[in-house]
Amino acid sequence: MSYEYLTWALGKGRLAKKTMELLGMLGIHCEEVMDPDTRKLIFTNEELKMKFFLAKGPDVPTYVELGAADIGVVGLDTIHEENRDVKEILDLGFGKCRMCVCGYEDSAHKLKDHSQIRVATKYPRIAGDYFYRKKQQTVELIKLNGSVELGPIVGVADVIVDIVETGSTLKENGLSVLETVMDLSARMIVNPVSMKLENRRINDIASRLKEII
Ligand code: PRP
Repeated sequence: MSYEYLTWALGKGRLAKKTMELLGMLGIHCEEVMDPDTRKLIFTNEELKMKFFLAKGPDVPTYVELGAADIGVVGLDTIHEENRDVKEILDLGFGKCRMCVCGYEDSAHKLKDHSQIRVATKYPRIAGDYFYRKKQQTVELIKLNGSVELGPIVGVADVIVDIVETGSTLKENGLSVLETVMDLSARMIVNPVSMKLENRRINDIASRLKEII
């Protein structure tokens, strides 16, 4: 955290690209950030006294909580899963998708019956909160790191808790949405101390963003 520079941590990939497009509409530019040929990790706009760096999504709330970045942009899924001490201040309206319980249609009864099922997911905290707290259903969680749809296909899980965007991954694999856990989109998060010390600058950016979203 620096009290001169406002530092942004952006989730690598589409989120960062969309964020820089939105910020560009406010006159906040830093072309280098999206340069595919650069190996540089942190970028500065001296005129606006802003710094930007790209990070793996799950690391964004960590950098923001620790004050390495004042502001972060990351999906609501990651915010819930990482459960860091950050303030979520704005829904940026892009990256819309859903966190869902998915599986073969014939697994639906196992959800209704509250059977002891195996749930594969990249998001054990979200899945645990949903089944244990909200549904009061005991499940066995299996942490996978990607291509979670394989879980029911290869038989390591009855259902998955995963992100559904277009639904085509499910469709191509004969799986369906069985329940919706939560709606997701990209969010702006802020370090709680920065929120106090840089209140004027941060609120100014957030309210200008709100107008164009
Ligand atoms: C995500 C998600 C689903 C897929 C959903 O995976 O985990 O697998 O996208 O998108 P769709 O509904 O548009 O098909 P991602 O591509 O990020 O890779 P991963 O499976 O390795 O996590």
